[in-house]
Parts: sequence; structure tokens; C-alpha cells
Amino acid sequence: MTTSRASIPFGLNPSLAARDRLIVALDVSTAPAASAIVSRLGNSVSTYKVGMQLYTAQGPSVVRDLVGSGKSVFLDLKYHDIPNTVASAVREAAQLGVCMLTVHAAGGAKMLSAAVESASSNPNLMILAVTVLTSLGDNDLEQIGMRGKAEENVLRMAELAASSGCQGIVASAREAPILRSRLGSSVAIVTPGVRPAGAAIGDQARIATPADAIRAGADYIVVGRPITHAADPAQAAGQILGEITQAS
Ligand code: C5P
Repeated sequence: MTTSRASIPFGLNPSLAARDRLIVALDVSTAPAASAIVSRLGNSVSTYKVGMQLYTAQGPSVVRDLVGSGKSVFLDLKYHDIPNTVASAVREAAQLGVCMLTVHAAGGAKMLSAAVESASSNPNLMILAVTVLTSLGDNDLEQIGMRGKAEENVLRMAELAASSGCQGIVASAREAPILRSRLGSSVAIVTPGVRPAGAAIGDQARIATPADAIRAGADYIVVGRPITHAADPAQAAGQILGEITQAS
């Protein structure tokens, strides 16, 4: 069954407000720590990413609480399993009311199509395929047996994801321009590895500033530590929102 998803801002959408483009990663271990960040950021941030750390520690209640408080949730558990198992997990996530979730493109076409099909009951849920983690450089890929440069692998995975019906892909800003030209505007590009000028790089390898990411064609940017570890998270988010507005 295919459901129309016209209400979702897929693909490059210049009319998206800066606030809709920023996704803050809640990479913390407890619900109180997550709530503290959400309340410090207030209305400036509407979408939060719940990843494996917080979900493993606190379970689905943290997602339900965020959705219940009016926030949008990107569930970043990077599903990668046999198609039936991934489809079943996606069905559960759809019931939690999340608006985006991730699957690994490396799971293959059958797994990706199963995820998309399973999400089709919820027209507000976007399936995003993770192409190549932004922490991996060319040498890391060679080590795990992936031939070619990161960019070639990202392109191949993104084309597979798009042809399998995924609504978006996760990719570094460096690959966004070529992805946009290859895939057109029908697929949303979500970009982590974003670092404002002067921020600590941490374990990311393929980074870009918020403005560079938006100019490169990213629809959404994911920012974690530069906001959540800032002395003043609201001010850090405000600066990033300003950069997004200027670049949009
Ligand atoms: O703290 P930082 O801004 O590096 O957080 C980036 C977030 O985006 C993390 O939660 C990380 O798991 C996630 N992510 C990523 N690279 C991907 C997919 C997701 O960094 N390819």
C-alpha cells in the first residue's frame, strides 16, 4: 500500500523555517537530562533526535513524553536487520508518533522497501536511510572492505535508498550538492556532522558549518554536542538558527 505524503516537506524546500530545519540530538542517558535540555531550549527548537543512548537507557517513554509535549521526534536507531524484523520495528515506531526514523542503506533494497511499506500507514513518518556514517573517512571504509571513496559509497547507497522508496537520506554536507544533483528534490537530505566555526570537532570526520550545510542543499541539520554541551544551549541554538536563516 502506498500512502500520499504530500504534507511532509520532502526534498529541498526553501520555505521551511529555520526552526523546522534544526534537529537537536539528545545524546544523554536519562530522561531528566533530556528534559533539562528541552526546557532550556524552549520554543526555539521543535525537533529532537532520540538515538540509541537515550532510547536504550530510557525506552519508548522518553519518545512518548516528547511527542506528548508537542515536539517532533526523529528516532535514530539505525535499523539494520532482515526485512521482516525491520518492518516490525518500523510499525512500532510509527505507533510512537515519531516523524523520522533511520535505517541503514547497507541493509539492502528488500529491507529498505519493507521499512517504507511498514511506515506507509503513518503519512507523517519519513524513512531516512543512513548512507555512510560521518565519522568514517576513506581509510576507515577501506578497513571494513568498502572500496572507493566515501563519496562514491554515499552516492551508491543514496540511489539505492531513493529507488527503494525512502523519503530521505542521512549524509554529510560535503556530499549534499552531488546528492541533490543526482536525486533531485524528491528526497530530503538530513545532515549531521555539523559544527559552527570554532566548535570542537569531537569524533566527526566530514564536518561542515550550519550555513555551509544549508547552502550545500541539506533540508535538515542535526546538531548534538555543539548545542547540548554548550555553556548556554539556547544561545548556541540561537546562533545556529541565525546561520540557517541567513543561508536559506
Ligand atoms: O554531537 P554531534 O553533533 O556530533 O551529534 C551528531 C548526531 O548525529 C549523533 O547523534 C550521531 O549519532 C548522529 N549521526 C551522525 N552521522 C550519521 C548519522 C547520525 O553523526 N551518519
